[in-house]
Amino acid sequence: MPKDKLWGGRFTQPTDKFVEEFTASIQYDKRLYHQDIRGSVAHARMLGKQGIIPLEDVEQIVHGLQAILEQIEAGKFDFSISLEDIHMNIEARLSAAIGEAGKRLHTGRSRNDQVALDIRLYLRDEIIEITTYIDLLIDALLTQAEDNIDTLMPGFTHLQSAQPILFAHHLMAYIEMFKRDKERLEDCFKRVDVLPLGAGALAGTTFPIDREYVAEQLKFHAITRNSLDSVSDRDFALEFLADASILMMHLSRFSEELILWSTAAFQFIELSDGFCTGSSIMPQKKNPDVPELVRGKTGRVYGNLMALLTTMKGLPLAYNKDMQEDKEPLFDTIDTVKGSLKIFAEMIREMRVNVGAMRKAAGQGFSTATDVADYLVRKGLPFRDAHEVVGKAVAYCLENGMDITGLSLAEWHIFSAKIDSDIFDCITVEASVNARNIQGGTARGRVWSEIQNVRAGN
Ligand code: ARG
Repeated sequence: MPKDKLWGGRFTQPTDKFVEEFTASIQYDKRLYHQDIRGSVAHARMLGKQGIIPLEDVEQIVHGLQAILEQIEAGKFDFSISLEDIHMNIEARLSAAIGEAGKRLHTGRSRNDQVALDIRLYLRDEIIEITTYIDLLIDALLTQAEDNIDTLMPGFTHLQSAQPILFAHHLMAYIEMFKRDKERLEDCFKRVDVLPLGAGALAGTTFPIDREYVAEQLKFHAITRNSLDSVSDRDFALEFLADASILMMHLSRFSEELILWSTAAFQFIELSDGFCTGSSIMPQKKNPDVPELVRGKTGRVYGNLMALLTTMKGLPLAYNKDMQEDKEPLFDTIDTVKGSLKIFAEMIREMRVNVGAMRKAAGQGFSTATDVADYLVRKGLPFRDAHEVVGKAVAYCLENGMDITGLSLAEWHIFSAKIDSDIFDCITVEASVNARNIQGGTARGRVWSEIQNVRAGN
């Protein structure tokens, strides 16, 4: 008979060793120890307050759990596979240490609502931490944007030179993405921040528990309203994984640009040596490993979302053991996102910007052609006709191996009599940027006030 098992009563034969290993989650759910203990302390206090267990037992339980917490933090706790998970490891140790009282802790509770509670507590803390990392990254980007308020670069569509922009404007685009990521996580937090404890195994409990009191102690803003849903819901974890996937997608796109910008062909930026590695054969190489790895790790974060969605898709209500598979994807995503954000903030802070190379590229590829078309519109030509005129001028330049900024007034007149000498003022890269003086545009003043807006927390 498996005497070592907390649920051994109805069993006559010991668990197969390999089954034990296969079904255990302690290898990875031990990282929930703090949450598990916090949850148990709150549960025990509630049981005592409600007169469900004696107050002396509550005192013993709380002290016993405190001692276990200290042991775990000192690395002196022996986690046992045969005790399956963090919940039973802690409970078994508590009972071994304090006896009877320890065995009363699980009154009115099931591991099903317990594990749901632990994950929610854990994720709550992690979401808060991740949002502080997002703030660090935004701050690093703001500093670069301020430092580069006069740095011009080519803006691209289809990765072809499109129109000149400010480098600061480009960086601010990423800030918009990260601000949305933060908002999404804060919104997800609301659905994580709900107490599931009290659902018992699935149907509730026969004891007169006070769920509001537990929620208060653990600072949950609400309690779940259906016991079946409480133990079978992992939407909050999926939502987090989806939000994390979008965040990684942003980091990955940014990585792609940093990698491209560091090439010899672009030379827009230089990542500091600390974020790069060399090649074992090519002495000249400095590889952008950090952004490459962040781009690469985006795959596993997407994979984690798919893994949990797939785990959940066929499950009947309420708890099923399949759901134990929620933890590894969740933990892996949390670690990956935190690591990526942290390293990115530092990398951005230390990134060197090659203002000259960006400025040179900003003027290439007929990047101010749209400005000529807009000029003609202001002289009364319908936009479609203006587009046609400038297209012809571009073709002429291509044929003659020149840029539109090199056309003389006489040459411009081949294409339109409406063009005057003031054309030369509006086809410089600076003029092009500053002409886009609308909300959300790349004009220097607009970008600067946006930077200050974000700095002020808007
Ligand atoms: N280790 C389990 C998990 O992570 C805890 C809940 C187990 N409940 C049960 N009835 N077997 O999901």
